[in-house]
This record gives sequence, C-alpha cells and structure tokens, in this order.
Amino acid sequence: MDHSAIWGADVAASYDTPGTGMFAPEVLGPTVDRLVALADGGPALELAIGTGRVAVPLSEAGVRVSGIELSEPMLERLRTKADEARIPVVVGDMAYVRAPGEFALVYLVFNTISNLLTQDEQVACFRNAARHLRHGGRFVIELWVPELRSLPPGAGATVWHEEPGYIGLDTYDVLNQRVVSHHFRFGEGTQASLGRSPHRYVWPAELDLMGQLAGFELEARWSDWDGSGFTADSRSHVSVYRLAGSGSATGTDAGDAGS
Ligand SMILES: C[S@@+](CC[C@H](N)C(=O)[O-])C[C@H]1O[C@@H](n2cnc3c(N)ncnc32)[C@H](O)[C@@H]1O
Repeated sequence: MDHSAIWGADVAASYDTPGTGMFAPEVLGPTVDRLVALADGGPALELAIGTGRVAVPLSEAGVRVSGIELSEPMLERLRTKADEARIPVVVGDMAYVRAPGEFALVYLVFNTISNLLTQDEQVACFRNAARHLRHGGRFVIELWVPELRSLPPGAGATVWHEEPGYIGLDTYDVLNQRVVSHHFRFGEGTQASLGRSPHRYVWPAELDLMGQLAGFELEARWSDWDGSGFTADSRSHVSVYRLAGSGSATGTDAGDAGS
C-alpha cells in the first residue's frame, strides 16, 4: 500500500464530514481552543495538514498556520477553503521536509505519526518538528493507545469499533509493531466496501523516548483536548513536548496551556 493509494483523490473527496465525526464541533472546538493556548500567540505548523480540518478553524481563531502534506489530492481540498497566502503548505514528507519559518507550535494530530511505518521515520519526525521550533516551542501529538490488552492470546485481530453500517477491525503484527486498520462500510445488502491503512503503533513511553532523542521534555499528557487526566484506561492521548533547556517545562506556560 503506497501513500497515494491510501490518500488519493477518492479519500480526499470524502474526507470532510462537516459537523459530524472528526468535524463535529465537540471534537474540533476543544482541539482548536487547546492549540490556540499552546501556540501562545506565535505561529503554528501542522504536520500532515490534510484538508485543513484543524488548520482552517485554527487560522480563523487568529493563529498563523503553515503546513506540510504529502498528498496532493488532500492539499487540493484544503485549497478550496484557504489559499497559499493564508495557509502556506510545503508538499513533502513530514519526517524530513523543511517548511519556511520558525514556529511556536508544531502539531501532529489524529494518530498521524503512526502513518510513518518505522521507528527511524518516527524519530526523524520528532527531530524535524524540533528544527522548526523556536526556543521554548512545543510539539503536540494526538495518538491512540495501542489496544493490545483486548487482543486475546493467539488472536491476530480486534474489532475496535462497530456501529450500524460500519465495522473497524485491526489486524496485528506484534513482532514488527504494526497494525492494519480495516474499515468495512455496508448498507442493507450483502455488499461491503473496504478501506485499509497500515500503521506503526507506539506506546506513550516510546513516544517520550523519541522526544528525548530530539531534545524534548514531556510537558503535559491528557486523555483528550479538554485536559482530562490520562489514565490506564485512556484510549488515546494528547501529549505536549517542549524543547528541553527552554525554561520552565512545568511553569506558568504549562498552566496557561490549561493543564
Ligand atoms: C488522518 S489524516 C489527518 C489530516 C489532518 N491532520 C486532520 O487532522 O484532519 C492523515 C494525513 O496525513 C498525511 N500524511 C501521511 N503520511 C505523511 C507523511 N509522511 N508526510 C506528510 N503527510 C503525510 C496524509 O496524506 C493525510 O492527509
């Protein structure tokens, strides 16, 4: 599965679901509010900006936003909402490509670090985030917690979501820390459509180590954008990294960020 097969024109055309799913106000509102606070008045860079689900409302909230994105079809969708002058985007791989400017905040949301399929690429992504940040800048990651506790001994797959017309099923390769997400969509008949995407799953502790390798300290970790506490039962997390040696990692700025 190459990148253009996963993030091609068909996916780009159906990605946006205004008002529902990941575009629901109860999802986007707290996301944008939190990112505004974490940007602290400075410019922000979104890695894997996609169709601008977060970048467009963040820009409307007064944050100067730039982006990096590998999929031209996804970027074309963004361009129907915001032009290059408003949200400049560099086409390329978020693990390596450089966007012009120096940023107060780099963010990578909606589990997208897992789209990088090797540990080396994920570490490179942290390093790339660090080199875009100014002194004291933050790197924010939103990522799911691997659901291996729900994988019965000997089984290779879990159903992580089911609702009328949809089943989400993950198959695991635990040796290589890979998961393939399968999205089955169906109606009343016997036919279903299947979309698949490969991921490298990462535990929060491994993510923190990647942060250390790139010069970050963990400043905060929540289970959601509203700042709820991260617990053993949290299914995802929002983790805030700050360039080490850049002043207080637990001081007023973290407080202002709403921890
Ligand atoms: C789940 S979407 C997230 C888009 C947007 N950040 C959002 O929250 O809606 C994943 C996006 O990551 C992009 N992507 C995946 N791997 C990438 C890479 N290595 N470099 C840049 N973009 C990448 C895809 O093209 C796609 O637009």
